[in-house]
This record gives sequence, C-alpha cells and structure tokens, in this order.
Amino acid sequence: MTKRFADRLVLITGAAGGMGRAFALRFADEAARLILTDVEPQGLEETASLVRAKGTECSAHRVNLAVESDISQFAGQVRSAHARLDVLVNNAGIAYGEIARAFEGLSQEKWLHYFNVNTVAPLLLAQALRPVIASARGVILNMSSMASNVPATAYGVTKAALNAMTYGMAQVFAVDGIRVNAIEPGIMETPASRAHLSSETYDRVQGQQALKLHGTADDIAALGLFLASDDARFITCEIVHCDAGNRLRGWRG
Ligand SMILES: NC(=O)c1ccc[n+]([C@@H]2O[C@H](COP(=O)([O-])OP(=O)(O)OC[C@H]3O[C@@H](n4cnc5c(N)ncnc54)[C@H](O)[C@@H]3O)[C@@H](O)[C@H]2O)c1
Repeated sequence: MTKRFADRLVLITGAAGGMGRAFALRFADEAARLILTDVEPQGLEETASLVRAKGTECSAHRVNLAVESDISQFAGQVRSAHARLDVLVNNAGIAYGEIARAFEGLSQEKWLHYFNVNTVAPLLLAQALRPVIASARGVILNMSSMASNVPATAYGVTKAALNAMTYGMAQVFAVDGIRVNAIEPGIMETPASRAHLSSETYDRVQGQQALKLHGTADDIAALGLFLASDDARFITCEIVHCDAGNRLRGWRG
C-alpha cells in the first residue's frame, strides 16, 4: 500500500465513530500521525485504541465544538505541541434527530446551536490552527452533505452554509498555500445513520441513487485521503459529491 501520509500529522474531529473513525483508520494505514477529537469520550478512546493497535502514534482529546473556549484551548495545546499540521478534517457534526427533521418551529437558540457546531466550528478551529496548518501548506476538509442541495431541514441549511463557508475559507486561506475543500456524502452506512434513520427512509434514499451500490464510511474516507494528498495539489474551493449519483434524482422523478 502507498504511504501518502508518512511523517504527516492529521487532526480529525468527530472521531468517536462512523466517518471519523473510518478516516482515522485509513490515515493510520497510510502512516500518518493522528490527533483525534470528539465530545463523546468512550467512542473516541475506542478509535484511539484501534489506531494504536496498528502501531500509529495518536493522541485523543475531548472537545465540545459548541463551546468557543473549548476550541481555542484545544487549538492552543495543538499549536504548543506541534510546529506543523498537515491535514484538518472537520468531520464532526450534528446530523441526526431533530435537526434532520425540523425546519419550521425551531427556536433561535436551537438554530444557533446547530450553526455553531455544523458551520461555524470548522472555521473557528481552522482559524485557531492556521499558523501550524500554514507551516505545512496543509489541507482542510469540511464534511458537508447532499442534504445541502435541497435544504428542507435545519441540517441541510447548516450544511449549505458550510459549503459557502468552504468557499470563503478557500479564498482567505489560499494566501498561506492552504487548500480547503468539502465533501458531500450521499447516504453512507455508519452506526449513527443506521440507528437514526428508519429502514424505509434508508432504502428510499438509497433507491434514488443512479448506481445501485451500498455507500460506506470508507468510500468517503477514500475520497478524503485523495483530496488531502499531494495528488490533489491543484484542487481547492471544491465541493466534491460522493453519492452514487443521488443528486440526479430530480431528473428521474
Ligand atoms: N452517514 C451519512 O450518511 C452522512 C451523509 C452526509 C454527511 N454526513 C456527515 O458526516 C459526518 C459524520 O457522520 P456519521 O454518520 O459518522 O455520524 P456520527 O454521529 O457518528 O458522527 C458525528 C460525530 O460528531 C460528534 N459531535 C457532535 N457534536 C459535537 C460537538 N458539539 N463537539 C464535538 N463533536 C461533536 C459526535 O459525537 C459524533 O462522533 C457528519 O458531519 C455528518 O453530517 C454523514
């Protein structure tokens, strides 16, 4: 296997399970050193153990991305411990439950909480880590969603705003040679997506795909590693779809 991330340092948010864990395991397989964070400590430690079992150097930090002081304190620790950070994967997000159903009727407090975690935290963390990412002329990946294309839920709105945030970040960070892209997954099997979506919803959404394939967290991690690698050195300011053609559903009725 190629080791595109040998001697590179990668920070992944939302690393307690699902997509974040898939990223951690793939980066570990390609020789990266890892910094893992999540608000949920148990899953985070499990991911750290899985990664260490591969012989990968890794630290794990509980961080609540809804709290600005948590973000700045954590980023300060990273900056003191490391001169450069090659990749930041802003994968954490609130994706299930009320946010994925509601649009009307949400309080201002709830809207702002969802925006804080899904849209603003990726920028605040990147900004706080900017000196070390700049030293590496590094890469930032934001985890969007195909729900951003037709945002009829609060979730979709936060991810549409994250796409816009990605364009802004790509322009502002480019002066430091930092690339910023987002990934728009379709429906991908993770423990959380299985637990929160009914099997009818899951099958209906999967049935809208042009390709009748089953999406996994590893499909997203594979794309993410490409975008984070030197092979993608000319790619920035992109929102890359990975959904087996699900966005074409409008044309097929
Ligand atoms: N699975 C899918 O089908 C799918 C599709 C499109 C986009 N996504 C996006 O991919 C990402 C991962 O999704 P997943 O399916 O693995 O779900 P998940 O719920 O397992 O992962 C999200 C992680 O974010 C963490 N998180 C939530 N709030 C946080 C906070 N305040 N501070 C720090 N961490 C916090 C959670 O603890 C969790 O570990 C999310 O951003 C989601 O929106 C997933």
